[in-house]
Amino acid sequence: MYSRDCTLKEIGEKCGHPSQEIQQTADIELTQLDKIANNEQSSSVRQFRSLDEFGDAMHLKLVEYSEFAINIPSLRVSESKILYGLEALFQNTIHQKPISLESRRYIGNKAKLTKWIMDLIDKETEKVNTFVDIFAGTASVSNQAIPKYKQVIINDILFSNNVIYKGFFEAGEWDVEKLNDIITYYNALDPDMLQENYFSKNFGGKFYEHNVAKLIGHIRQDIENIKSKLTVKEYNILLSTLIYNIDKLANTVGHFDAYIKKQIRVQQLHLRLINARDFNNVKIYRENANELAKRLKSDLVYIDPPYNSRQYNRFYHLYETLVKWDKPLLFGVALKPAPENNSLYCTTKARDAFEHLVVNLNTRFLVVSYNNTYNSKSHSSENKIRLEEIESILNKCGKTKIFECSHKFFNTGKTEFEDHKELLFITEVDDKRKNKSFSSVLHWR
Ligand SMILES: C[S@@+](CC[C@H](N)C(=O)[O-])C[C@H]1O[C@@H](n2cnc3c(N)ncnc32)[C@H](O)[C@@H]1O
Repeated sequence: MYSRDCTLKEIGEKCGHPSQEIQQTADIELTQLDKIANNEQSSSVRQFRSLDEFGDAMHLKLVEYSEFAINIPSLRVSESKILYGLEALFQNTIHQKPISLESRRYIGNKAKLTKWIMDLIDKETEKVNTFVDIFAGTASVSNQAIPKYKQVIINDILFSNNVIYKGFFEAGEWDVEKLNDIITYYNALDPDMLQENYFSKNFGGKFYEHNVAKLIGHIRQDIENIKSKLTVKEYNILLSTLIYNIDKLANTVGHFDAYIKKQIRVQQLHLRLINARDFNNVKIYRENANELAKRLKSDLVYIDPPYNSRQYNRFYHLYETLVKWDKPLLFGVALKPAPENNSLYCTTKARDAFEHLVVNLNTRFLVVSYNNTYNSKSHSSENKIRLEEIESILNKCGKTKIFECSHKFFNTGKTEFEDHKELLFITEVDDKRKNKSFSSVLHWR
């Protein structure tokens, strides 16, 4: 079937597994990738050159070395060997290994920083039982907090994030075999036999290859049709599974503010279940953080709001539409619905919103992430709250320490954010000091 020499990337694409998916599935270290990008890979490349000698265990080697083939186009090996390795990889690994919470593209996610954040929290706080992730996004921070704390509260304003938290974490009953049967049926669907649907008519040929869009719309409708035969947890697992699998196929640079205006290559949608678990110590909300803050009592609140004018509900509108499935009218080139749940944090009111949030929070520790991805060329990426403003507000709440993480730590190999700083503020709240400093804000309320 494959005769000439080629790269793993090319074969992966033919098989419907983009290189990103292969890397994620193979659990290839990102640091290794960065080394390759920086040409620091010489010894490994020498090993790679002996790929032709691999025997039965070759698939393991391919898993190990796939990144070299992907990133160094000049290194080409026999297609049949790559295909063999890929098949083994997908048979032995992909089909069985559930998709992890972190394998999602999401602007500002802290997946690469969770260790740094959690280690600092461990060191700087004590007697924390209740941990709140009040702008949870992908919930990568919550995911680390769940095994550590007695109770973890996860909140985000987006419908799609809420379903994902429920799919991955919420307590409930589900039958993996039943879900595998359902996705096996979905994976066998032939898009040519399906009718056009809401999703394919709107997003086909734009955000997704047309046949993939047809499948997505059909599967989404089917999940709704069989809802009465599913438990709540099963329903949320299936929706999250759909989101996580289509995330890899989106014709975007990682969000749905725009699609790439090029011919989309033919792809296959092959669903794999998410890594669903259930925890009794997790509570999930979909509320405006400023409203929820007034009702919570906790020991620690982790605060990671948006800092620029880019609204997350607009960036991820397609998932919002998919989850709500109310088939709204869509507007503009990016086919967005009418705005809903716009965040004050993306406006000139961000500073006040932040102040009101911390004033209302009843907690012993405030932990705030702050970064300056400010790019002077783009006004929309300008931070809405200045560093000094955060610092001054937190100082009014209590003793505040600031920690800085070098951009090299989490952005290895990329040079475009040379001055990108990731900061973490940890404030031990002093109620007397807070009430005194914010008396005008308190009276205002
Ligand atoms: C910077 S992201 C958080 C990233 C997250 N820490 C992670 O690791 O993925 C900010 C999140 O805040 C949410 N958000 C924005 N305004 C909100 C509000 N007023 N209340 C609750 N969530 C909000 C957005 O939907 C977005 O997911």
